[in-house]
Amino acid sequence: MRFTSIVVLTGAGVSAESGIDTFRTKDGLWSKIDYRDVATPEGYAANPVLVHEFYNMRRRKIATVEPNDAHRALARLERGFRGDFLLVTQNVDDLHERAGSKKLIHMHGEHRKALCARCGSRSPWEGDMSVETACPSCGAVGHMRPDIVWFGEMPYQMDRIYDALRLSDLFISIGTSGNVYPAAQFVQEAGRNGAHTIELNLEPSETFDDFDEAIHGPAGKVVPEYVDWLLKL
Ligand code: OAD
Repeated sequence: MRFTSIVVLTGAGVSAESGIDTFRTKDGLWSKIDYRDVATPEGYAANPVLVHEFYNMRRRKIATVEPNDAHRALARLERGFRGDFLLVTQNVDDLHERAGSKKLIHMHGEHRKALCARCGSRSPWEGDMSVETACPSCGAVGHMRPDIVWFGEMPYQMDRIYDALRLSDLFISIGTSGNVYPAAQFVQEAGRNGAHTIELNLEPSETFDDFDEAIHGPAGKVVPEYVDWLLKL
């Protein structure tokens, strides 16, 4: 294979065929509910009950869906590729790990984790959460929140991600609209450092012009095909 270091970025589109709503399509999540109410620290401070209901509903939904062929193909790429590999997802579902991915960063957090705003500890989380939930670490009540990065907060592990982008010679962006920063500028960061950049998306994204190459179609079809091609190089 001619590539030595791959970074993959995924967004909501990679989980769409598993039955999880995307955000910005006509029927997407942000057309049904105002993101400021449920995905900002200000929204949480104003109405924590609503925010817990929203994430409880999403956590329950995610428990009922399964990884699709795109998730499985990315796990296959990680296993079959001999160079450096990093999968960065903006998704807060656990479908990549359930498909077998291990070298994975959830830059926007995870549904199946809780964060105590008082002591800062993170805990695995399966069931619902409420304003009456106690922190498993410090015992304080009323400070537990989903471990999700909200608008205005700093995504996780950015140093590790930028290091990998700078060293990569292939950057693959899958199922993301290119609307949300800093993820939307990863293509420029990788490209500036000489990586070949490719978009695999249902349609041209907002950052389509920044890519060297694009293949448009459903992730469940185009990702396995592209991975097969890569592993044969
Ligand atoms: P969006 O909903 O903004 O974009 C999803 C992208 O996936 C769109 O470009 C769709 O065309 C594409 N798509 C839809 N179905 C697809 C399929 N079957 N195969 C391939 N592509 C498909 O979602 P994101 O870009 O992931 O952040 O959104 C980024 C962030 O905005 C999210 O992580 C979330 C959101 O607000 C936070 O909550 C902090």
